[in-house]
Amino acid sequence: MFVNHPPGRALVDVLAGEVRNPPPVWLMRQAGRYLPEYRKARAEAGSFLDLCYRPDLAAEVTLQPIRRFDLDAAILFSDILVIPHALGRSVRFLVGEGPQLDPIGPEEVAALEVERTVERLQPVLETVARVREQLPQEKTLIGFCGAPWTVATYMIAGHGTTDQAPARLAAARDPDFVAALIERLVDASAAYLVGQLEAGADVVQIFDSWAGVLDEDGFRRWCLEPTAAIVAKVRTAVPGARIIGFAKGIGLRLGAYAAETGVDAVGLDWTVPLDYARTELQPKVAVQGNLDPLLLVAGGDGLDRAVDRILEALAGGRFIFNLGHGIVPETPIENVARLVARIRKG
Ligand code: CP3
Repeated sequence: MFVNHPPGRALVDVLAGEVRNPPPVWLMRQAGRYLPEYRKARAEAGSFLDLCYRPDLAAEVTLQPIRRFDLDAAILFSDILVIPHALGRSVRFLVGEGPQLDPIGPEEVAALEVERTVERLQPVLETVARVREQLPQEKTLIGFCGAPWTVATYMIAGHGTTDQAPARLAAARDPDFVAALIERLVDASAAYLVGQLEAGADVVQIFDSWAGVLDEDGFRRWCLEPTAAIVAKVRTAVPGARIIGFAKGIGLRLGAYAAETGVDAVGLDWTVPLDYARTELQPKVAVQGNLDPLLLVAGGDGLDRAVDRILEALAGGRFIFNLGHGIVPETPIENVARLVARIRKG
């Protein structure tokens, strides 16, 4: 499959090397609990995974933020943990407690059903196709997966942790176990991203939310190399595929991540200095970010000033406006509208 994008999707154009000022804008976790219409669809679906696997409801939820705000892109509504689920692991989302998985051990890796992943994720691919059909022509559709390390941290611990100690300890004690798990996640994730691109996604993003806890060796082995492998596999199947990498908390290692993974853009969390992004990263790749999501909760002049600083520093180069991490449920809806209006004003 060759990628031949219709012209005029600003976000795709920036990934292809163009500069847009004002820049395109979308927000990580833009569909979610801060929207009453999301909470309604969520209640109708019953469980969170049922929502992810119901193409009618998932497509509706994907489009909700686009109806409310003048955003450039919709992001597929799903979750990074559908991959372990499709691999045959038990995954549950308990209200108020976050995800719960049965922790995986070394002896269980061989049984992961990599070859069945895409087949089991057909409902999600159906959502992609439905959204692309309903989305206005000029808007970009973003697909995504979790990066192998971040997905592995949940599979090994069985739940979210603050420091990913269970996965780091597993990597220290039994690196062959973690390597075998990561290898399977690379294959499953690449096949899943190819499926999303073939179903109609214009761009895909790889979320490595927990890359920041790794030491130098671990960063290379569990973040850089697996991400580069996914990018290469996806581009073998879909030449020219546009890919954004968001590795949170990696600081100065963003330079190596931008240079060695092959992604078209790097996501910046809110701790990344804007001067560093402008001088060290933007010459190599597009950058995306990096407003602190809590500034969006607070709103007011502080929000306006932070937005202006980001635009001043980055809008002269290849840039996509976003938050530095996902939008939080406490975010007032009017602050999101205010943010988008301010960016559009240029
Ligand atoms: O709007 C979008 O961005 C698309 C949908 C999306 C969700 N999760 C929906 C979701 C995306 C892109 C994700 C990615 C995701 N999921 C990540 C990477 C990005 C990040 O935030 O770091 C991670 C680590 C997960 C795993 C996950 N899913 C956790 C830890 C939780 C519980 C915490 C929470 O926010 O509740 C989820 C659940 C989840 N995924 C919700 C949503 C809207 C909330 C669940 C609910 O509605 O009950």
